[in-house]
Amino acid sequence: MVGQSAAEGRKAGRAGMRLVGGTALAHGEAVRLDGVSIAFTLKGGKRYVAVEGIDLAVMPGEFVAVVGPTGSGKSTLLNAAAGLLKPAAGSVTVFSSALSGLNGRAGYLFQADALMPWKTALDNVAVALEPQKVPRAEALARAREWLAKVGLATFVDRYPHMLSGGQRKRVALAQMLIRDPEILLMDEPFGPLDAQTRQIMGNLLLELWAANRKAVMFVTHDLEEAIALADRVVVLSAGPAARIVGEFKVDLARPRDISEIRLEPHFHALYKEIWSCLRVEVSRAYAGGPA
Ligand SMILES: Nc1ncnc2c1ncn2[C@@H]1O[C@H](COP(=O)(O)OP(=O)(O)OP(=O)(O)O)[C@@H](O)[C@H]1O
Ligand SMILES: [Mg+2]
Repeated sequence: MVGQSAAEGRKAGRAGMRLVGGTALAHGEAVRLDGVSIAFTLKGGKRYVAVEGIDLAVMPGEFVAVVGPTGSGKSTLLNAAAGLLKPAAGSVTVFSSALSGLNGRAGYLFQADALMPWKTALDNVAVALEPQKVPRAEALARAREWLAKVGLATFVDRYPHMLSGGQRKRVALAQMLIRDPEILLMDEPFGPLDAQTRQIMGNLLLELWAANRKAVMFVTHDLEEAIALADRVVVLSAGPAARIVGEFKVDLARPRDISEIRLEPHFHALYKEIWSCLRVEVSRAYAGGPA
């Protein structure tokens, strides 16, 4: 494993430093989770601890993928970074300020389609600028530019039901990026798409990200996708009380073509290494979690 053990990472995190691929990084992270635990209250008052003692930092311009078995707490972590969930213990810091309330410096791309069915593609994208009080004409002009960037210049007047699944994802991507957030939180954004469309969307995302590098926290259950996209892959254990059990630096050259990069021997070596860590947790999740 390139990176460090979870225990070493936690120690380094507590000391205010974090080891990434063996390099000590000082403060200045775009988003930083320190000893974060998140618990839910179930019916009858019982508490379910979803994640515990999570130390995770994403540097500005860094692309971090989080993988883990189903139900391990990947969405929960993104929700904590977005300010949608408040940790029971630990803290979330955004550009060195403690996060309270919603994370206004982040854009969130959900797994489910979140487009408004009664609005055209153009309006769905332009509406993202409303909270910033951008004048309507300017918002529409910028929305057109963004739809062109995601390859939908001729689809601006279509309603979501007139678009394919991949096209709807492109609209959602434009809707997130038009606000120019400094942090991108993405929860299995390409999950429902077929393999070929996923690869096309992955390349589009990398192209847009390369032009204006943001800090990215990208959740996926697909390890190949995680390696192809990210600078670092973080593995979450099976829940309850899921924790980080591995961090792996992805030292593959950029720019990357995510269909081509899968054919490289070093990609295979990384896959094998990370899968040996993830496989254990996937088996534990299917066996009903740790004893
Ligand atoms: N509101 C809630 N109330 C109670 N338990 C919850 C709530 N939200 C999530 N959980 C539980 O917390 C755990 C983590 O959920 P989470 O959605 O973060 O998992 P995930 O890793 O994103 O899974 P998947 O890959 O299936 O999307 C799960 O066991 C889930 O049942
Ligand atoms: Mg999830």
